[in-house]
Amino acid sequence: MDIWKYFDITHKKHIFCNPMSQNKFEELFSLLDLKPGSKVLDIACGKGEPLIRLAELYNVSGIGVDISPYFLKDCKKKKNERVPSSDIKLLEMDGAKYSPEINELFDLTMCIGASFVYNGFIGTIKALKKMTKPNGFIIIGEPYWLKEPDDEYLKMSGIKKEEYNSHFKNIDVCEKEGLNCIYTLVSNHDDWDYYETLQWWSAYNYISANPDDPDNSELLNKINNAKIEYLLYGRDTFGWAIYVFKKQ
Ligand SMILES: C[S@@+](CC[C@H](N)C(=O)[O-])C[C@H]1O[C@@H](n2cnc3c(N)ncnc32)[C@H](O)[C@@H]1O
Repeated sequence: MDIWKYFDITHKKHIFCNPMSQNKFEELFSLLDLKPGSKVLDIACGKGEPLIRLAELYNVSGIGVDISPYFLKDCKKKKNERVPSSDIKLLEMDGAKYSPEINELFDLTMCIGASFVYNGFIGTIKALKKMTKPNGFIIIGEPYWLKEPDDEYLKMSGIKKEEYNSHFKNIDVCEKEGLNCIYTLVSNHDDWDYYETLQWWSAYNYISANPDDPDNSELLNKINNAKIEYLLYGRDTFGWAIYVFKKQ
């Protein structure tokens, strides 16, 4: 089944497509206190909620990049409904291939839940750092190990232990890259449960509404595996944080 179709179906009910609560995001956005016209870049912007909220709050200009045609369509609709006259550009492309216009730097760059775009966390830090103004903000959403992962979990999920750090190490590697971590948000069980279980709900809704879709058995299989993996292991092993850095 097409992977972007899978994410579209399983994230139908989500506004933010990551395990952080809306309330925590709202608090963070109000703390940013950006000047009108600030330039924001969101790599792997999903359905575009962070960018659109910042445009509503601060009248920022911005660029959102995402590879999913489904999510980009949602982004465009949201932009037209909520901030039609804003200077927000939405690009459907591989984030790794995006490069700003010559000499263009952003006041805020973000990559939330998609550091695979740059082959991992350190690659994401380096890429965003290059596109951010001095004294600008960099916001990265990244998982971390809450505890040593069970071998069985690694086998089931296909995740390699070295793909992720501890929470401390996520901050430490960024600071060693010359960034100052000024704020973090972490997800609790409620935030994670909301993010994960809403995917089950959306998948079952889709199957009921589209009983003849030939992708349904694969969809069901994938969602059931994700459910078991999360309940048996992920819920107590995997953390999620939003890190806010300042570029010196
Ligand atoms: C976990 S979601 C996060 C979305 C969004 N940042 C948010 O927090 O709501 C991961 C996003 O990465 C996008 N994505 C995956 N591979 C990508 C790529 N190579 N370039 C750009 N976006 C990509 C997916 O379409 C999806 O929107």
